Amino acid sequence: SFGPNIFVESQWLPFKSAIDSHLHKTWSATSVINGKTINDYEADGATQQLDSQTVRAPWNHDVSAGDVTYANAALARQAIDAAVAGQSMWQAVPVAKRAAILRKTADIFEENYAELMALCQVEAGKTMQDSIDEIKEAVDFCRFYADEAERLDETVHEFTDLSGKQSRQVYKARGTFVCISPWNFPLAIYTGQIMAALAAGNTVVAKPAEQTSLIAHFGAQLMYQAGVPVEALQLVLGAGDVGGALTAADNIAGVIFTGSTQTAQRINQSLNDHAQVSGELPVFIAETGGQNAMIVDSTALPEQVVRDAVLSAFGSAGQRCSACRILCVQEEMADDLIELLQGNMAELSVGNPLYAATDVGPVIDGDAKQGLEAHIERMRVEPTATILAQTPMSSSSVVSEEQSTFVLPTAIEVKSIEVIGGEHFGPILHVLRYQARDLDKLIDAINGTGFGLTLGIHSRIENTAEHIERRAFVGNTYINRNQIGAVVNVQPFGGCGLSGTGPKAGGPHYVARLMQLSTESSVN
Ligand code: SER
Repeated sequence: SFGPNIFVESQWLPFKSAIDSHLHKTWSATSVINGKTINDYEADGATQQLDSQTVRAPWNHDVSAGDVTYANAALARQAIDAAVAGQSMWQAVPVAKRAAILRKTADIFEENYAELMALCQVEAGKTMQDSIDEIKEAVDFCRFYADEAERLDETVHEFTDLSGKQSRQVYKARGTFVCISPWNFPLAIYTGQIMAALAAGNTVVAKPAEQTSLIAHFGAQLMYQAGVPVEALQLVLGAGDVGGALTAADNIAGVIFTGSTQTAQRINQSLNDHAQVSGELPVFIAETGGQNAMIVDSTALPEQVVRDAVLSAFGSAGQRCSACRILCVQEEMADDLIELLQGNMAELSVGNPLYAATDVGPVIDGDAKQGLEAHIERMRVEPTATILAQTPMSSSSVVSEEQSTFVLPTAIEVKSIEVIGGEHFGPILHVLRYQARDLDKLIDAINGTGFGLTLGIHSRIENTAEHIERRAFVGNTYINRNQIGAVVNVQPFGGCGLSGTGPKAGGPHYVARLMQLSTESSVN
């Protein structure tokens, strides 16, 4: 298991009854344009109803979380127009007022923790611990970006030329941002993107992942309740076609995106194509995938390595871009470590995320499950790969395989990184042995994947850890600990290469990137 559960009974019970009271609610979500709930649209002079779909809990499809009404491309363009029209109002709001609204959002999220946790569990299939962490991270983003907006506002650089004429450089809003957020952090990343853009004085059109629209809609309602003006934040629910219409709009200042590398490349192409015509290249911030390794030398503490690797690989059912996908173990300790890994995986509790003891919940949907299981089956017949361990479903979980989307945590020994064939976004850990003399070749092979997000290092030799850190091409390294769960303003998070553009979320350059620096001459 992942270690001591923070929910010892005395702490857990008061939370549980509050959350339980929201578990059986039927939620609903629609797009919101200028504060108006969008259920229909005008086409050919007539009013047409939009499509609605029932959302099923990934851990039991008999449980319905609620209904979502999805928008279309025409509504996406309306939302952009509404946000662009709201820009001059929002950028004129003093920074202190904007920051206060962000801080109020954080307070309101905390007050509504029970609803938010219930939604994270039912719609996204998150475990108790992951749901708590989700809300904490969202709250941290609100408070940190509020501080950042104020810090930048106070950062004025003054210059004087030889004749004594003065000029000053100040931060200004850019315009409307499209924020496209993922289902794996349906509140935290969604909120982080929106709050950073709003803090900078930009208006926002948010397009959350279609799988987690209920959480996004409830989150937006709380933001409005905190004082975010309806002109400043437009919410558009939908899939890729809606996202495509938003990023193709000709009056946006930028796009903030978290999701797959392929989608980021498509958005980048669309922005570039557009720039050919309009001459304007919007700001593009992308946080994408990873093929993250943990390198373990023979001086590492095996129990600690296994605890950190298991959490990094199987926590959140492996559905984190930061997750450990390849555990690289020095040959001398590989056999012992694999045995410990098998023992630890046998202790994982896989099943219903509503149970406090569950370590690994379901993956998000049937497509994800199918892709992950296809990879495991491919590895089963691959001559150079060996399945080391697969944790069964916990016997206390009453879910049928057909009515849920669980993927069993699986460890697979491989002989090379190439055989893995890219990122597999779920609870699958590959184990690779290496010889000490080949350490640099190993780092180069990890760099050779083109991704550069997280890297775990386990060694008790400082020089070795530092050497690996210097040679590796990654955004975040973690030494002698797990490699997931970057904390806002503690481990600014984001990668390089195929893993993203930067700047790092939760770091000192993020809000600044959403603003433009203007050099203004003084009148005298
Ligand atoms: N920020 C998350 C983590 O560090 C991933 O998006 O795990």
